[in-house]
Amino acid sequence: MRIRVPATSANLGPGFDSCGIALSLYLTIAVKEESESWEIEHSLGDEIPSDESNLIIKTALEVLPSLKPHKLKMTSEIPLTRGLGSSSSAIVAGIELANRLGELNLSTQEKVEIATKIEGHPDNVAPAICGDFVVASFLENDEKDQVKYVKHYFPECELLAFIPTSELLTSESRGVLPTTLSFKEAVQASAIANVMIAALIQGNLPLAGKMMEKDHWHEKYRARLVSHLSKVQEICKKNQAYGSFLSGAGPTVIILTSEEKSQSIQDQLQQLDPQAKVEALSIDQEGVQVF
Ligand code: HSE
Repeated sequence: MRIRVPATSANLGPGFDSCGIALSLYLTIAVKEESESWEIEHSLGDEIPSDESNLIIKTALEVLPSLKPHKLKMTSEIPLTRGLGSSSSAIVAGIELANRLGELNLSTQEKVEIATKIEGHPDNVAPAICGDFVVASFLENDEKDQVKYVKHYFPECELLAFIPTSELLTSESRGVLPTTLSFKEAVQASAIANVMIAALIQGNLPLAGKMMEKDHWHEKYRARLVSHLSKVQEICKKNQAYGSFLSGAGPTVIILTSEEKSQSIQDQLQQLDPQAKVEALSIDQEGVQVF
């Protein structure tokens, strides 16, 4: 059995902690034979544990502590600590591992709930489970309606990822956010997000892209941690891309553009930072898959 989970990009600018898309980069685990103890083979180096303390196995055991140990092999195209949902993909892989080995028959809603509670917000885990574009809420104190989500088709366009070599921990990137916003600013921030989501649902990429760049929740506070953000935005403006946004907590930036402008934008982004990875990605429409 193989479990495949897509990378994700959260926030889409003003959809902070709520919106996300699934992308065509994957974490795959091959489930092998039962064993004395859990073992996970991978080539990601010593920082990623190979035993029960690995996030995939830890998550699976949290879902079902009685799971019998197995040997696993993990391969991943998702860069770590770059804002592309690598830890969410591991959490989702762990939930699916427990679901299949333990024959739990979890519904999508149950998977999204479990993953959101483990991760703390739904914007990466929900699209990793459902695929495509997901808008979600996590109301921690609401007993009945804690986690809600809506999946929708993301309009067709070119998605470029500008992935710098530098890493950025989510904790550091959340650490620069304010603890309060004024009522007036929160109302504006919410209105911008509402129009961005409505425009995406309507397939109006020029308007969606414009609103993505007007975020009031987080990007301006994070800008000092991601010095390339304004330069990438400049290239996007100059080339009339639809829009760009900081992917999750950063430092990756995602650019939405038409196909005809894509190559020239890619070339300019690569010139901006020859060490950075500039990748043309597409939307993953399926979410987690088991083969
Ligand atoms: N919404 C989260 C953030 C995504 O921007 O901090 C990263 O986990």
